[in-house]
Amino acid sequence: MRTFPAALGLTPGQVEQVVRLAEMAPSLHNSQPWRFRIMPHLIELHADPKRRLRVADPDNRELRVACGAALYNTRLALAHAGVRPVVTLLPHLAEATTLAEVRCGGHESPRPEEVRLCEAICKRHSHRQPFGSTPVSTEDRHLLIRAAQQEGCWLHVVEPGERGTLEGLVHRANRAQMADGRFRAELAEWVGRDADSSDGVPLSAAGPKPEPQDQWVHRDFTAGLAERAPGTQFESHPLLVLLCTRGGDPADDLQSGQALQRVWLTATAQGLAASMISQVLEVPETRHEVRELLGGHSTPQALLRIGHGTATTPAPRREPAELLLDATELSS
Ligand SMILES: Cc1cc2nc3c(=O)[nH]c(=O)nc-3n(C[C@H](O)[C@H](O)[C@H](O)COP(=O)(O)O)c2cc1C
Repeated sequence: MRTFPAALGLTPGQVEQVVRLAEMAPSLHNSQPWRFRIMPHLIELHADPKRRLRVADPDNRELRVACGAALYNTRLALAHAGVRPVVTLLPHLAEATTLAEVRCGGHESPRPEEVRLCEAICKRHSHRQPFGSTPVSTEDRHLLIRAAQQEGCWLHVVEPGERGTLEGLVHRANRAQMADGRFRAELAEWVGRDADSSDGVPLSAAGPKPEPQDQWVHRDFTAGLAERAPGTQFESHPLLVLLCTRGGDPADDLQSGQALQRVWLTATAQGLAASMISQVLEVPETRHEVRELLGGHSTPQALLRIGHGTATTPAPRREPAELLLDATELSS
């Protein structure tokens, strides 16, 4: 097993903790498509092409969103350890898999918000169970909108008049994906794994098996292994938000991942729960229609359902040392 070196003025143990927190980020099917190269003056975030989802995410957009979320955790973990992070996205002259470089911009104590959000990293989980009936407060909505803005993105709160159209698009996208044998085969690789698996979505975190009457179709992570408890009903009015960027290039995807994580951690710190409903943004036709619904000028990157949840089972992660990348692997 590889060992962690010192970096950015931190001890090996502190660097390991930074990577441990970074990889608590969400990723499509819990594929964890990231690796880290640690040098004395630099931490590089790399995409892991072996973990890409060719059918659900042929352009690697969601891979970059997930890595952007891991980057945001890296920034918070460094700030928490007293290092002010300076980030370069998609640096020139880098390896093909390099998504970001993080350097030390000085040493200072973390700000109170950074401490709060960093402490939320290990409490944030995808909540696929029904939410309680209490609506998300106006104050919390404002905090979520501000969190997205602070990362250069825009959070569109889905209006009552838009819900019907969006709901129809989500159902259409889900039907299209589940009718595609290649999509089903890829999904099957990441669900219903043994209890000791360190990636994929375990049955304990899968949520109820979707049923046709559900207003918002959740992705079926049950692998046909669980029936739905009788009487399980989803809330009819969750807060639904679309996280958007202006453009849709790889840097925008990384930016939206950082914003996604800031929004989700802000929700967690406020005692809220969330899950993602991504089918509609994975199928090109419905993604285009969502874009039109938003006026055609922005790029929808993530659809989140937010509300008041109950305790959830965390999805697993790999040992941080498994995520280390060294120069020999890059040149091979
Ligand atoms: C780009 C992206 C798309 C995702 N889409 C969905 C989705 O459609 N449905 C869902 O339940 N979870 C979705 N997730 C959440 C992942 O399944 C989840 O992050 C992963 O299983 C790890 O679990 P955790 O969020 O509890 O840490 C998505 C995550 C990312 C980053």
